[in-house]
Amino acid sequence: MLGIAGFLVGLAAVVGWLGKGRHSEGNDRVGRGERAYRAGDWAGAEVAARSILATSSGDAGALRLLARAMARQGRNSGAEAIYRKLGTDRMQAEDLYLLGSGLLRRGEVGVGMAALGAAREADPDHAETLDALARRWETEGSLIQAAEAASRLRRRPGWESRGGIRLGSVRAALFDPEGASVAMSEALLRDSEMSRLGEDRREILKRLVRSLIQAGRGSEAMERLREIDPADQEAAWLSSRARLAAGHREEALEALRRAGDFGHRDPMASEPSPFIGARACERCHADRFDEQQRSRHARTLVRPNAIAGLVWPKGPVQDRSEPKVVHEIRATEGRVEAETKVGERAFRAVVLFAMGSGRQGRSFLAREASGAIRELRLSRYPSDPEWDRTMEHPVVPPDSEGYFGRPIQPESFRRCLHCHATNFRAAEDSNRPEGADRGIGCERCHGPGELHVRAVEAKLPELAIARPRLAKPTQVMALCGDCHSAPPSTAPADPGFVRYQVSGLSLSRCYTESTDSLSCVTCHDPHQDAETSPAYYEAICLGCHAQSTQKSARGPTRKGCPVNARSDCLNCHMPRVSNAVPRTVFTDHSIRVHRP
Ligand code: HEC
Ligand code: HEC
Ligand code: HEC
Ligand code: HEC
Ligand code: HEC
Ligand code: HEC
Ligand code: HEC
Repeated sequence: MLGIAGFLVGLAAVVGWLGKGRHSEGNDRVGRGERAYRAGDWAGAEVAARSILATSSGDAGALRLLARAMARQGRNSGAEAIYRKLGTDRMQAEDLYLLGSGLLRRGEVGVGMAALGAAREADPDHAETLDALARRWETEGSLIQAAEAASRLRRRPGWESRGGIRLGSVRAALFDPEGASVAMSEALLRDSEMSRLGEDRREILKRLVRSLIQAGRGSEAMERLREIDPADQEAAWLSSRARLAAGHREEALEALRRAGDFGHRDPMASEPSPFIGARACERCHADRFDEQQRSRHARTLVRPNAIAGLVWPKGPVQDRSEPKVVHEIRATEGRVEAETKVGERAFRAVVLFAMGSGRQGRSFLAREASGAIRELRLSRYPSDPEWDRTMEHPVVPPDSEGYFGRPIQPESFRRCLHCHATNFRAAEDSNRPEGADRGIGCERCHGPGELHVRAVEAKLPELAIARPRLAKPTQVMALCGDCHSAPPSTAPADPGFVRYQVSGLSLSRCYTESTDSLSCVTCHDPHQDAETSPAYYEAICLGCHAQSTQKSARGPTRKGCPVNARSDCLNCHMPRVSNAVPRTVFTDHSIRVHRP
């Protein structure tokens, strides 16, 4: 499908014109075909279009109708061929939508999204385009954009329920169970519309119930559960949670019995529970708590309420690549302000978050008076020069603001916090229990914990918490990979790839050929920093790669090393790599033979 990419080039230039929705031919027969199309009679529309084309083969209106009717019947390549003939300047939002969704179905994500983007520019209210964009953005994790598209869809007549359902699902992913409940309850008021769109009312009800329990509204959740057949196992399981939340132990036990094995399906399933914050775990898991709170996971973010306590530069710092630029960061009265002077101009912002524990470096996210977020150009490093340009910022920025810092869009700001905090939504609010967590707390990996504490106290036969200890290695890799894997734009050949341990290890034969027995926790305790003694790791290597005379501890005996079967494995097979990302050192987790 090379052609289509070139074909879409220049779309942006024509969409303004497209927006006017020009109807080229007022032809009556086309009108009839269009009516059939609007009524969902794709085959009828196709017949009408073909009959016009039989006498006037170049009729643009009929060609467009034919392409639409074919796309609707799943004949995308035929439709694409006609669109190419027709040219982008005759395409409307409907056509761009059909083209884009056909491309997406075939896995052509880049051009598919470009076509959907053009469809939205041609008509910002085209419902199916909004629906497709919201769904795609949600799967990509672009949640803020997804929420915007879903909200807009919710305002389109006939699409209120679908918009509400999409919005509910995105708000749930945004850790906003209140917002999710409102959107889904409203969608559920539109019964006939839901059935027309093929939505499964029972599924939506279950999602609503989850959000209600998460929002701490257990009794409302129980009300809504009455609308579901009690024989449904998932509903019974949800009912056990709603009753647990409401403090009804016996009913919770009874519901659990009805739920059968529903709760035992996936040890990693996150509970529909409110957060309670890491401090609440200390009471019963004091050892885990102490070690985890000392680890760099817990120190990888410093919040607004603690930021003034950090070490700041003693005076102005001259920019190392542009002496006319001077940076200052000052802590005064519990507040930290950054100022950068570029010649005559001065830029200012309030520092919100310090990112990174400081092992490799620490950068700062600051909010300007306009509300915009910047990652400051000045970062702190553990070695000289202590205050230096933030890794990966350009030596010469594109504009003078760039000397102050790199603009961070709301979506990336959310992503920064998603990987460096327990709940990104609570990160600025230390009044919320998990908002008071240091950096990454227990509930980032084990899911929200209030129901767990209730379950333990009520002596329920289930612990009501995600238990990675019982999960498969692939699931553990997925948990760590939420933060430790490479974005799709970073290929293995990219020098910066070493930064992503999950992506690296996934390529190694140690992982791919050890039949579900190797994961990150084979070598790391997730509650502690990485062990620094090579002997510790080499013992693990030898657990699988015993010399052929020995019996290996894990699985069948693997071949030993023909070069050095006893020691020093890491230097040759898992080397440290310096400066792949400026001023950092990473360990190459793609365990292999490195040949020059
Ligand atoms: C009231 C005491 C109590 C509190 C508070 C508590 N737990 Fe537990 N937790 C237990 C008990 C008891 C068990 C089951 C026995 C065990 O594994 O220690 C358990 C088990 C677990 C397990 C499963 C262990 C396994 O074997 O797979 C995890 C994970 C867990 N807790 C995490 C947490 C987290 C996270 C918090 C805070 C949000 C928390 N707990 C708060 C008492 C508590
Ligand atoms: C996909 C998850 C993810 C996102 C998104 C993310 N980080 Fe990180 N960040 C990590 C991980 C994992 C590390 C530790 C390993 C490493 O250094 O790459 C880290 C380390 C850091 C460090 C310490 C220096 C270093 O490289 O070790 C800083 C500073 C930092 N991140 C800042 C940010 C900022 C600012 C953002 C948002 C623009 C951000 N991070 C977004 C996962 C993420
Ligand atoms: C970075 C993710 C992560 C964080 C943060 C985290 N855990 Fe865990 N936890 C895991 C994984 C993975 C396992 C399974 C380890 C294994 O299989 O060896 C686990 C296992 C456990 C267990 C059961 C096995 C054991 O080692 O005792 C308990 C209890 C537990 N975690 C409690 C906590 C508590 C309490 C906190 C916060 C103080 C916490 N965890 C923070 C990932 C995490
Ligand atoms: C929420 C995102 C997130 C998840 C999930 C996560 N990590 Fe991390 N991890 C980080 C960040 C951020 C850092 C960098 C900490 C710092 O600033 O130094 C880090 C650092 C580490 C380190 C280096 C600690 C050191 O010694 O400096 C190890 C090892 C590690 N993670 C292992 C794991 C494992 C194993 C898992 C899965 C059980 C996991 N992580 C899950 C974000 C995450
Ligand atoms: C869970 C078991 C396991 C562990 C732990 C393990 N490996 Fe492996 N490794 C394997 C398997 C399986 C293969 C595939 C070849 C084979 O079957 O011998 C392999 C292959 C290799 C290869 C050949 C790779 C290639 O591309 O040809 C090297 C080198 C290697 N391992 C080194 C190490 C080192 C060094 C460590 C410790 C840091 C380690 N392994 C830890 C299971 C393991
Ligand atoms: C075979 C053992 C082994 C496995 C499996 C393993 N690591 Fe490591 N990891 C190491 C070693 C060795 C280091 C270097 C420790 C040191 O600092 O001396 C390391 C360091 C790290 C660091 C610190 C930054 C760096 O790259 O040096 C992070 C983060 C990390 N590992 C994450 C992970 C994650 C996530 C997984 C799961 C994909 C994983 N590791 C699996 C051996 C392992
Ligand atoms: C001085 C560097 C060096 C050290 C130290 C070293 N290796 Fe190797 N290893 C090699 C090289 C080079 C090869 C490839 C040999 C060949 O193909 O001729 C290799 C091959 C291997 C293989 C693949 C064997 C096969 O036939 O497929 C394994 C497994 C392995 N090493 C494991 C280890 C382990 C485990 C250790 C530590 C106990 C270790 N190595 C220490 C350099 C080293």
